[in-house]
Amino acid sequence: MMTHAMEGFARLCDDGWQQGWHERNGGNLSYRMTAEDVAECGKMLEGTRTFPLPKPIPEVAGEYFMVTGTGRYMRNVKIDPLHSFGIIKLGDKGESYQILWGLEDGKPTSELPTHLLNHAVRFQATGGKCRVIYHAHPANITALTYTIKPDARMLTRILWQSETECAVVFPEGIGIVPWMVPGGTEIAEATAKLIKIYPAVVWSYHGAFASGSSFDEAFGLMHTIEKAAEIYLKAKSVGIVNTITDDNLRVLAKAFGVTLNPAFLD
Ligand code: 13P
Ligand code: ZN
Repeated sequence: MMTHAMEGFARLCDDGWQQGWHERNGGNLSYRMTAEDVAECGKMLEGTRTFPLPKPIPEVAGEYFMVTGTGRYMRNVKIDPLHSFGIIKLGDKGESYQILWGLEDGKPTSELPTHLLNHAVRFQATGGKCRVIYHAHPANITALTYTIKPDARMLTRILWQSETECAVVFPEGIGIVPWMVPGGTEIAEATAKLIKIYPAVVWSYHGAFASGSSFDEAFGLMHTIEKAAEIYLKAKSVGIVNTITDDNLRVLAKAFGVTLNPAFLD
């Protein structure tokens, strides 16, 4: 049986697959469940397998998460949920996790440290609103990282200038980490440092992480970033002769009642 939250989780995975962001096992998703989500699972949740985390994350101790499996394909989440994702519960001190449903013949994503640390940091940054952390491999935002230094100001300005509503969707800007080995605590800590400030972080030559209070918000943020990167690369390949000015951005922010990161304006 699929609960409401499981349906939402599977829909996002399929949406990302339809966008072409999830070649092979590329990308992963996690969702911090509400008490109602957990209650809806009822007797489906039962634990037999417990694993340690490389570093304890006490900020999310005792929380339940839905999380995709390592090596699993986003295109299979809808048709084979039991093998493609699962539900885990963190230990009382955030030092381990127990698999309570799904992840059959498998384990959570190799990016679990980044997901959990990002949840810990975004929980604090959003007053508990953030529930979704989404990692994808969209082609355009990844291609864009080959054309600039890994600099949040430069990246943010390019994206703000490439689609009018970007500044409204992410007024804080977007972070970027230089190339690092994926799948460990080091890249998790580098990402968490940035996601404290920005709702999304790009991984150079790899992809991006987006956060949100809902599946719609996290997917929508990834989609907005990727679309803006696509527009930028298309415009740049022909030759950019006009752009959205800083004064345009200021007027836009006023009209929509958002505060743009002042460090990213000239
Ligand atoms: P997993 O299959 O372990 O989720 O890894 C995919 C990925 O995108 C790593 O960055
Ligand atoms: Zn990846």
